[in-house]
Amino acid sequence: MTGLMGTDNKTSITKYQQVKHFIVNGIESGVFQHGDKLPSIRQLGIELSVSKNTVIRAYQELEAQEWISAVPKSGYVVQSQTAQVTQAIAPKHVDLLGICKEFLSYPNHKERLPCGSAHPNIDAPAITSLYAEIGRHARMQPHIASHYQLPPGDDLLIKQLAKITQDTGTNASLSDVFITHGAQQAISLALRATTKPGDIVAVESPCYFGNLLLLESLGLKAIEVPSCPRDGMYPEALKEAIKQWDVKAIVVTPNFTNPTGALMPVAHREKLLTYSGEIPIIEDDVFGGLSYQAPLPSLYSLDDKRRVIYVNSLSKNLDSRLRLGWVLPGKYHHQIEQGLLCDHMGSLNLMQSAVAAFLSSGKYKTHTSKMIRLYQGNVRRFLALFQQSMDTRNLRHQYRVYPVHGSYLLWFELPQHVDCYQVYQQCKSQKLSILPGSVFATQNQFNHCFRISVANFSADTDWQPALNLLVEILQEHIERP
Ligand SMILES: Cc1ncc(COP(=O)(O)O)c(C=O)c1O
Repeated sequence: MTGLMGTDNKTSITKYQQVKHFIVNGIESGVFQHGDKLPSIRQLGIELSVSKNTVIRAYQELEAQEWISAVPKSGYVVQSQTAQVTQAIAPKHVDLLGICKEFLSYPNHKERLPCGSAHPNIDAPAITSLYAEIGRHARMQPHIASHYQLPPGDDLLIKQLAKITQDTGTNASLSDVFITHGAQQAISLALRATTKPGDIVAVESPCYFGNLLLLESLGLKAIEVPSCPRDGMYPEALKEAIKQWDVKAIVVTPNFTNPTGALMPVAHREKLLTYSGEIPIIEDDVFGGLSYQAPLPSLYSLDDKRRVIYVNSLSKNLDSRLRLGWVLPGKYHHQIEQGLLCDHMGSLNLMQSAVAAFLSSGKYKTHTSKMIRLYQGNVRRFLALFQQSMDTRNLRHQYRVYPVHGSYLLWFELPQHVDCYQVYQQCKSQKLSILPGSVFATQNQFNHCFRISVANFSADTDWQPALNLLVEILQEHIERP
């Protein structure tokens, strides 16, 4: 389901740049791995229908940029990722609030392509039952003694959340669970428990903008660790970052990274734990429950040092408006409890008791399985229609999209010269909603990318006209001189 940028289009990108894209994409997606011999100049020229000189120029530039190196008498090989990593890293303060405020505001019209935000589909009978339960609990409130819902939270809800955590393969005893105001508060508490202002935190690249905003508000610096859209954060890249900088915490999303949908293989999870030594890890697992296949072991369950703080929420599987998340604090129990109690004196009694009752009804599990099937179908449908539309315009080789094994997010890469912020603005004026790559990084590295959420495509919508319009806009930008 991937398209490789190729050479058969009459676009403004020069042919040697397209050859470069082809090789870089291959390296980033793991098709060409460290030490692999690359196709010979002649072979690649034939494969991509370009001249030898075009390939030579592309290879020479890639060599200068340390992607590949020439080996006497045997051609070119892929350089180790670490060489690229040392170049890429520089801790940086985050400054994204301004731009994020623009994307976080919602239109008051119906969108033709509702793909901008990563909220789940709430058009389901379970959601109706959930709100009926919330109504019932609201009516019960006058008859219940008034008190703060102090941390760790409602007993029954804790029991249900521990069960949800266990169902995705992570052991959680009842005393481990603290209920939070969404995963956002949980990650904030975890960062405050492990860092102080000015510290350096390693994050994926691209990284969920909400996590970057937390670094911004806490005065922390981000090291954006090169990450693969398929496998997530490169452990070797993290190792290099740690060697070079005093990294105080790591925030990572091994399951279905936002925005790329990357799923970190178990071997990489193990390496990440080894390379990071004693550094605290904040494992953001908000999409973990939306796996199309059996779950992989979490970092929390693989770690034997209790320095992984596990974070999850009901925002992606059920409804983000509940603002219900939870955290397993590992050895940072005291700090997390202190943060929760002192800052907020507890959380919402009503929501906690109502959601606990809903979860106890058993409807959640059926709902989640149904949603996973829906999202998997939507991903398949979206990609098929998108590809069809791009093919019609002879744009097959002008984008790359990565297969996903869970969640409802898709990450598209366009040729480097495309400015997806402009694409986003043009889409917005046509009531098409996408999210530009610029919000997922501190330095505009992903300006040529955009994220799509397919959660809210309803079965009765005719997607093709909206998708055609999106593709028309993309074409204009791809072919812009
Ligand atoms: C990767 C990731 N982490 C955390 C969050 C925050 O989740 P919550 O709504 O539970 O605060 C989100 C929300 O989009 C997310 O995508």
